[in-house]
Amino acid sequence: MTSLDHEEVLVRRGPRSGLYSIIAVHSTARGPSLGGCRVLRYDDHRLALRDALRLSRAMTWKSAVAGLRLGGGKGVLACRDPARLTGRARRDALIDFGEAVEQLDGRYITAEDVGTSARDIATIASATSHVTGLSRARGGSGDPSPWTALGVFETIRASVERTFGSPDLRGRSVALIGLGHVGLPLARLLAKAGAKLLVADIDRARKADATALGARWVGGDKAFSSPVDVLAPCALGGILDHDSVELVQAPVIAGAANNQLADDHVAGLLADRGILWAPDFVANAGGIVNISVELRSEGYDPKVARALVRGIGDTMRRVYDDADRAGVTPLAAAMALAHRRVADGVSSPV
Ligand code: NAI
Repeated sequence: MTSLDHEEVLVRRGPRSGLYSIIAVHSTARGPSLGGCRVLRYDDHRLALRDALRLSRAMTWKSAVAGLRLGGGKGVLACRDPARLTGRARRDALIDFGEAVEQLDGRYITAEDVGTSARDIATIASATSHVTGLSRARGGSGDPSPWTALGVFETIRASVERTFGSPDLRGRSVALIGLGHVGLPLARLLAKAGAKLLVADIDRARKADATALGARWVGGDKAFSSPVDVLAPCALGGILDHDSVELVQAPVIAGAANNQLADDHVAGLLADRGILWAPDFVANAGGIVNISVELRSEGYDPKVARALVRGIGDTMRRVYDDADRAGVTPLAAAMALAHRRVADGVSSPV
């Protein structure tokens, strides 16, 4: 069951497209709610609503732990067949969504997400100014993925430091699963830092990129259970469950994939096995941290973004310290930090 602890939820049928825009504003305690717009296939509008509720809540915790003056929101454009939502029909649906965003008067700011592109965001921007993540050419912060990769890279350094005593990655082995928009720039950073890479991806077309970096190309199962120093999941969520954690040999798991744990109990199983797991929503906040720089009155500056995204390493160190002090898992410590910051609103220190 999806419980409701949100500030507001807007459900609006688009006058042009007939498609429903669902926007969930979970919290604006720390600032306007920000979260992407998904265009996905939903066979049932209840599932679309549930996604918006669940994902907007997750955005609240992610932005709070990252110390951003932002709340959590999410938009869903519920659609039966996204592949056929093209041309005029797509434009109509996106403008309808933009009008729904505009109705919230800045309490929700939208961005790119699963099923939307930078071009789609530009279309939405013709109906509302509450948009982030436009291309650099249009004054926005551009593609978030390399920033997500940088935040994960700093997370890996902080986690390696915690486990081995130094953040130096020279000679450290990393098994990376998913060489996509985040995985590839992450692999480049790791290779440059001197790490030895094992890479797995279900798409064999990625092999050329892996070998160009000097990485060993392996199957997904092999990457998952190899005796490496770090396992970096950068593909799909749910990869760590009650059974699969038994197979992990890496003492550190730190990657970009969202919702890596099948359920929260898995955090305890990992801790019991002596595996340090970097909470995914802390590790993969680089994209939203970069976007937040767009909202400064001075405008977007990549140098500022770089410094802030690099700070994710220190956020992770703090989470690990809190966890040690309280005798809880890093997941519990990160959630406690997020809840404290939301309860305190904008008055809490970042
Ligand atoms: P992507 O779709 O560009 O890359 C995912 C890669 O994983 C693809 O190359 C795909 O072939 C591969 N893959 C899929 N299933 C696999 C499997 N079972 N085994 C091995 N490889 C598999 O996605 P992107 O943008 O790189 O995101 C990766 C993860 O990071 C996702 O979970 C996403 O939700 C999360 N994330 C991404 C952010 C971003 O800025 N792009 C921000 C925050 C989280």
